[in-house]
Amino acid sequence: MTVTIERYTFIQKVLHWLIALAVIVALGMGASLDWLGNGALKNQLYALHKATGILILGLMLLRVVVRIVFGAPSLPVNIPSWQRTAAAASHFLLYALILLMPIIGWAATSAYPAPIPFFGILDMPPLIGADRDLSKQLFAIHEWMSRGILALVGLHIAAALRHALIQKDGVFRRMWF
Ligand code: HEM
Ligand code: HEM
Repeated sequence: MTVTIERYTFIQKVLHWLIALAVIVALGMGASLDWLGNGALKNQLYALHKATGILILGLMLLRVVVRIVFGAPSLPVNIPSWQRTAAAASHFLLYALILLMPIIGWAATSAYPAPIPFFGILDMPPLIGADRDLSKQLFAIHEWMSRGILALVGLHIAAALRHALIQKDGVFRRMWF
């Protein structure tokens, strides 16, 4: 008997892997900004980090619409209920954090105030007016949220690999091409 598994739609898979890559790159660039000395390279990294973040925001807005339209495939019946709850909660949190993170970065940079170039195509308009104290607070939130995202993504990858390599229950393939 062949077992058919329900899968995410093609567009959901493309968006998942594009955003996953972009978020990991954005986290890496953000962390590198901390230890890189001032100079041309740091300025380029700032610009690239901001543009990647804005790209993530655009892709996430599209992804939320796609998710509302197509939903998610139901999990195999043998998955225990605590794991269903953990998956639903962590996926919801990931959506919320990855949507909020670029908005906070955009607002913090607007309040600083510093420019937000988007890959040399256009400059994003400021979200809010200049306010250095508010900018500092928003950047502190941006930093704390990055730790939350890092922890959640770590857990998420560990769970995905467990499904793919240990349990081999088809859950990983739902998101693969
Ligand atoms: C290389 C690392 C990654 C692997 C192997 C991976 C794997 C997966 C798999 C297999 C699923 C489907 C789970 C299911 O069937 O219910 C999934 C869903 C999901 N992943 Fe990842 N993922 C990775 C990175 C990321 C990153 C970095 C993010 C955050 C930006 C992310 C966010 C999500 C979300 C939000 C869902 C739920 C999708 C939905 O129900 O609409 N993933 N991931
Ligand atoms: C999902 C998207 C994003 C992620 C994962 C992310 C992640 C990070 C991380 C990890 C840091 C380093 C935090 C620290 O240790 O101080 C950082 C810093 C920074 N981010 Fe983002 N970021 C995102 C989006 C954005 C956006 C859209 C902007 C602006 C348009 C932005 C602007 C900045 C700036 C200017 C810094 C440096 C702050 C400082 O020098 O104190 N980020 N980001």
